[in-house]
Amino acid sequence: MMGVKLCNVRLGNPTILSSGILSMNVDVLKEVVKNGAGAVTLKSTGIEPREGHHNPKVLVWEHGLVNCYGLTNQGIKNMDSEWEELKNLQAPVIASIFGANIEEFAEVAKYMAKKNASMIEVNVSCPNTKEHGMAFGLNKELCYDVIKEVKKVSGDVPVIAKLTPQALNIAEVAKTCEEAGADAISAINTLGPGMFINIDVAKPILSNKTGGLSGPAIKPIAVRCIYDIYKEVKIPIIGIGGVTYGKDAVELMMAGATAVGIGSAVYYRGIGVFKKVCDEIEGWLEKSNFSSLKEVIGAAHE
Ligand SMILES: Cc1cc2nc3c(=O)[nH]c(=O)nc-3n(C[C@H](O)[C@H](O)[C@H](O)COP(=O)(O)O)c2cc1C
Repeated sequence: MMGVKLCNVRLGNPTILSSGILSMNVDVLKEVVKNGAGAVTLKSTGIEPREGHHNPKVLVWEHGLVNCYGLTNQGIKNMDSEWEELKNLQAPVIASIFGANIEEFAEVAKYMAKKNASMIEVNVSCPNTKEHGMAFGLNKELCYDVIKEVKKVSGDVPVIAKLTPQALNIAEVAKTCEEAGADAISAINTLGPGMFINIDVAKPILSNKTGGLSGPAIKPIAVRCIYDIYKEVKIPIIGIGGVTYGKDAVELMMAGATAVGIGSAVYYRGIGVFKKVCDEIEGWLEKSNFSSLKEVIGAAHE
């Protein structure tokens, strides 16, 4: 009843661990799957290792998180041992990639396809770095070129474009990615940059001063973005942004999402959040007038 098909990939349920939320430690990812995630997305990875920003880099406040990790990752050059262990994971593995230019995106994608990632998510939307992130996602022509090149080297592995809500017209960017060959869209990445100031010392709290906003505060923006994208594209959408309870997942699905990413809610409800959200969706479905989850997708458009 809860199974979904995303491109050619079968998920036991529609919840997916979003990129960057937990470490790349495979034991942690195994726990995520044991706790009910239908798929896991790895931390965005580039060619070279990257330290990112130093602490404090995450701030949890009552409406969401603000983070300035800045694409901390080990680089594909140091990732072979993780892939060895990931082979045994009992759920699809989505590899998230980033690059400073089109050639770098293609090189990382080629590596991930060779490692048999279930899907490749192209992060063109990080608000926390100057040279690798959102600049791509704000420009539909650049997105087209990145996706086109990534598709060329990814073989049969489905390619997902992960978009920023800060594009002037996210639906237009999604349509352009579809035209370039993207097999799915992920929406949305964090919103930002935002800032918190510690008023006792009159200084910004995060080491980088600013960071990307996620969690409940961004859910209405996620819902609107998904709603707009659903009207423009035929490819499936992974809805991300503020999914904390089953009812949030249903809302994103009614806007047009086939599956939902869960990120900040891991901080609020623990690693068991995936099963909790699935149980809540099922409970809601039983009481609703919908006979299947499939019927819920895009229902707010009818
Ligand atoms: C600590 C942290 C690190 C993140 N790192 C990445 C990342 O490496 N790549 C990426 O595409 N998104 C990253 N994100 C964004 C999430 O994948 C997700 O799009 C965003 O948090 C919105 O979902 P949420 O409201 O469920 O948290 C990160 C978010 C957080 C909170």
